[in-house]
Amino acid sequence: MSRIAYVNGRFVPHSHAEVHVEDRGYQFADGVYEVVLVQNGVMVDEIPHLERLDRSLDELRIPHPMSRGALRAQMRELVRQNRIRNGLVYMQVTRGVAKRDHPFPKNAKPSIVMTAKRIAMATPEAVENGVKVITIKDIRWERCDIKSIALLPNVLGKQQARENGAFEAWQVDEDGKVTEGTSSNAWIVTQDGELVTRPATNDILNGITRMSILKLADRQGLKFVERPFSVEEAKSAREAFVSSATAFVTPVTQIDDTVIGNGKAGSLSRGLRDSYMDYAAGEGATA
Ligand code: PDD
Repeated sequence: MSRIAYVNGRFVPHSHAEVHVEDRGYQFADGVYEVVLVQNGVMVDEIPHLERLDRSLDELRIPHPMSRGALRAQMRELVRQNRIRNGLVYMQVTRGVAKRDHPFPKNAKPSIVMTAKRIAMATPEAVENGVKVITIKDIRWERCDIKSIALLPNVLGKQQARENGAFEAWQVDEDGKVTEGTSSNAWIVTQDGELVTRPATNDILNGITRMSILKLADRQGLKFVERPFSVEEAKSAREAFVSSATAFVTPVTQIDDTVIGNGKAGSLSRGLRDSYMDYAAGEGATA
């Protein structure tokens, strides 16, 4: 089946989905994006993702391309046309097309494009074995809370991870504390069984999955704290994992050359993954 993309109000074959060469996203990375998980044909945490999209747009003073209701209708239509049961919707809004010049253009209309694709679920063995992360210097700007399409440091970090046989790279600030992954949030479980993740300041993207996990942890009465943690602390943690709309909760069993726990997914991470999957299929699903 051929894929369909959404480009500024039109559903077009993926192979013909094009924007102008002077789109400011293309020339200046002047835009923002969201990735929304689709499970069983239904979007997960759709409203929080759209709220974060609005926030990112407002922070960069990019006009909203359409009402939330209209956007939700177009997202549904895209999922339907692509027959996605399990996958994701990618959406990107830029400041629009204008003659190349750094200041905001006067009359540009924001551009919006969306694509959808299927994703395969990790096998139980893959989850049980967990993934490796490497640690790298965080070289990003001071507004990592904005989900900007300017992702060059993230791209370089992820490539470095791949070249080192790792799933993700954890970025580390000047104090030796982990900020987050290149496309996921970072978590550890201390030897005392406390769940730790960095507070949502400008240093990280406040993951929608992160917020849902915190909500679930709170409900389950788990001990948790939002505070920065160092690379050393992570390496001596009982468990570690990453979270994102597409990785859900993915156990981490190796950080650089250090094996975490017994080298298998930790029980708290596995439990949180299961409860997140239940949440995604129930409460988090938006019909
Ligand atoms: N990335 N931190 C960064 C830097 C991210 O890019 C992402 C998501 C997250 C997790 O956010 P959420 O739980 O809302 O997905 C944290 C998406 C999946 C991506 O770039 O593909």
